[in-house]
Amino acid sequence: MIPEEKVREVAERLSIVEVVSDYVQLRRAGGNFLGLCPFHNEKTPSFNVNPAREIFHCFGCGAGGNAFSFVMKIEGVSFPEAVKLLARKAGIEIEERQLTPSEKKSQDEYTQFLRINDLTTSYYRSVLLNGQEGEPARQYLVNRSVESNISEAYRLGFAPDRRDGLVKHLKNNGVDLDCALKLGIIRKSDAGWYDLFRNRLIFPIRDARGQVIAFAGRVLDAALPKYINSPESPLYHKSSVLFGLDMALPSIRTGSSVIIVEGYFDHLALYRAGVQNVVATCGTALTGTHAGLIKRHAERVYTLFDSDNAGKKATIRSMELFLEQRIPAYVISLPAGDDPDSFLAGNSSEAFAALRDKARPAFEYFVRSLLAETAPDSVDSKVRIIDDIVPRFRKIADSVERDLYEKEICRLLGITVHAFRKRMGGGSLSKPSITENQNKPALPGNNIQDTLLALLLNYPEARVEIVRAGLETFFMDDYLELAQLLLDTLDGSDSSQALSHLAETLDKPELKTLFSRIMVSDGYLADIEWRSVLDQCTRSQEKKQLSSIRDIAARLAVLDANSDEYEQLLKQADSLRTRKSKL
Ligand code: CTP
Ligand code: MN
Repeated sequence: MIPEEKVREVAERLSIVEVVSDYVQLRRAGGNFLGLCPFHNEKTPSFNVNPAREIFHCFGCGAGGNAFSFVMKIEGVSFPEAVKLLARKAGIEIEERQLTPSEKKSQDEYTQFLRINDLTTSYYRSVLLNGQEGEPARQYLVNRSVESNISEAYRLGFAPDRRDGLVKHLKNNGVDLDCALKLGIIRKSDAGWYDLFRNRLIFPIRDARGQVIAFAGRVLDAALPKYINSPESPLYHKSSVLFGLDMALPSIRTGSSVIIVEGYFDHLALYRAGVQNVVATCGTALTGTHAGLIKRHAERVYTLFDSDNAGKKATIRSMELFLEQRIPAYVISLPAGDDPDSFLAGNSSEAFAALRDKARPAFEYFVRSLLAETAPDSVDSKVRIIDDIVPRFRKIADSVERDLYEKEICRLLGITVHAFRKRMGGGSLSKPSITENQNKPALPGNNIQDTLLALLLNYPEARVEIVRAGLETFFMDDYLELAQLLLDTLDGSDSSQALSHLAETLDKPELKTLFSRIMVSDGYLADIEWRSVLDQCTRSQEKKQLSSIRDIAARLAVLDANSDEYEQLLKQADSLRTRKSKL
């Protein structure tokens, strides 16, 4: 553990401009420095660094934070590692705080786990490469055209057909077998210790930093089960691990996109074909955690699953996860009967690139496959199709996209937009304008809540006024949460350090983005008459709320008064009226 004072000392010693300049060419632009964002691909700079605030923010991809967050993101390291890296740069020596006995124990165990996995990887690898025992696996790899450079990149191995080959190897290296037991790679019975993997080709599974955290083993023939995988362990949680992420990260960064496949061999085939922004799930369906992990690294995701029915199901399920996380998702479709591995065995990487270029938005893929299953040739089938579409349709965050799909769906089904909306639950599809505005990256000063938040940050008198009226009168959702946090932070001394520190402690990505955006873009509020700006904001807020009350009233008019939605909207209208009366 690094003592907090040391962290602050490092933060004080280095300016964020100095830190970022090691990676990004910056030029001054008003109060900020400007450059090309290193976290997504862009041609015109939207990456801002504010030296006074010690905060960076990219208007293109929403990345933001302080110097530590920057280093964590760009180097792919943890917070303590980022602090150490910057300490070195600042010439500050870091003595880590003494660990408590229980911290020490779990750290020791963690180190042990990693050592065991390293020993295991090199054991399997040496069995594969040397000696008679590895011959069947070497032959297998030849048959699948896996050459030695690829085998090395994945650190492939072979578990020999022996009861306790790994057990012995670990024992000879002085490993505490009970510790290895927790990783599930060896087991204990009345007859003694034995290996989990036997007579299987081994894929080490690594985390984003390249540390081996688990293993998967494939049979060399048609025996079942085809794969066995390490069980869940303190190091390995399959629902949050993406196989190949460590190899893919550099390429994901350059292209801002990632391709998801389902099989280890599919990953291997693409990597070999030079397509390196690829990750695979590890014998499990894609989860929300996976989707969140992907969102942290990429702006766009392609799914590339088998062309069979299971693959289609997986594609649609993953679309829902990506809609929820608001990551644009596309589907690469393979010819019937192919998986990525078999496709690349028979086709060039240019042929694959052509397929990728033809990838369709996941939602469109979904609607089309619904229509392929059920022809919309009767009222009954149309209703069924719409009912399948509606819950997913609601998850489309972008209103332009929603409008386009709405038209497309109606065209394909041969129904009117009015009929579709009626089935959706009546009324206009767009949400009340207040919530909608918050999700759009507004230009500085374009959004009332942005301006209000910036006032709160910059003008203590305005802050007092806002607090007096109640934060809820001015802010909603993320804005409200952030406003409260800012108040708590500014409560003591209003040092910019405390604010920059806040960037580290925010863990909700939406709040992080919002915060850094405000912090680098509130320059337009310097030297203004805060009172008149606050009044203006209040007036526009009032107008907006009036119009959303009208929106709601219009929807209420077409709804069944006994429905749940009617009830909900009534409540919403009520609370809007209350807020308005408080303004
Ligand atoms: N899988 C698994 N357990 C099984 C079968 C499959 O964990 N018994 C997982 C593995 O992660 C596998 C993925 O599902 O990689 C996809 O399965 P499949 O397409 O059968 O495997 P591939 O890796 O493509 O292997 P191959 O091309 O050799 O058939
Ligand atoms: Mn396969």
